Amino acid sequence: MSHLIAPSILAGDLANLIKDIEMLNKSDADWIHVDIMDGVFVPNISFGFPVLEAINRYASKPLDVHLMIIKPDRYIRRFKEAGTSNLIVHTEACTHLHRTIQAIKQEGMQAGVALNPYTAVNNLEEIIRDIDQVLIMSVNPGFGGQKFIEHTYQKIENTRNLIDKSGSKAIIEVDGGINLSNAVRLIELGADILVAGSSVFESSNPTKTIATLKAL
Ligand code: DX5
Ligand code: ZN
Repeated sequence: MSHLIAPSILAGDLANLIKDIEMLNKSDADWIHVDIMDGVFVPNISFGFPVLEAINRYASKPLDVHLMIIKPDRYIRRFKEAGTSNLIVHTEACTHLHRTIQAIKQEGMQAGVALNPYTAVNNLEEIIRDIDQVLIMSVNPGFGGQKFIEHTYQKIENTRNLIDKSGSKAIIEVDGGINLSNAVRLIELGADILVAGSSVFESSNPTKTIATLKAL
């Protein structure tokens, strides 16, 4: 499969979401990445259901929802109702990850698991066959606009190896600090989905930047 691009709306103009969503609808973006932060799991608060529902009213592309919250089990159905296609939870935030993943799948969503930069890929060994997506964080979660962590390249290779040896069908998503300079190597190493926030929305022509990322 050729790689997918998921721009992160966190970096958009939150006072004019319609404009950015319409731009994404018409662009080469495959998914819209939505970052939900609770101020507990990460040291920042982004937005919650009212904003997600508003995004969903205008978006014509699947919503890839990245939960940076503790105890996500409390809200799985509500995320589905708010328009989520792919629901990603952090392994560090889930005591009973297998149960959480089953609950996400029961709601008919794609189930993803995210790993913080310090979390080893082999933590996924016992769950990799049950999930649809692995999200490798290439910055510490909580903020857009941070610098890409170089060790991510090694983690993508490790994830690719784990997927291949287990026979899992999971796809690999990378999130944080992605730009036109590091994207090629990520794709070469086996990344299937690139999330990009500031490199898209802070560029002079976001539509063109998305097209360039997609064409790499
Ligand atoms: C970080 C978020 C990322 C972020 C990406 O906590 O999970 O999705 O919005 O933004 P950039 O591309 O600016 O690092
Ligand atoms: Zn994210």
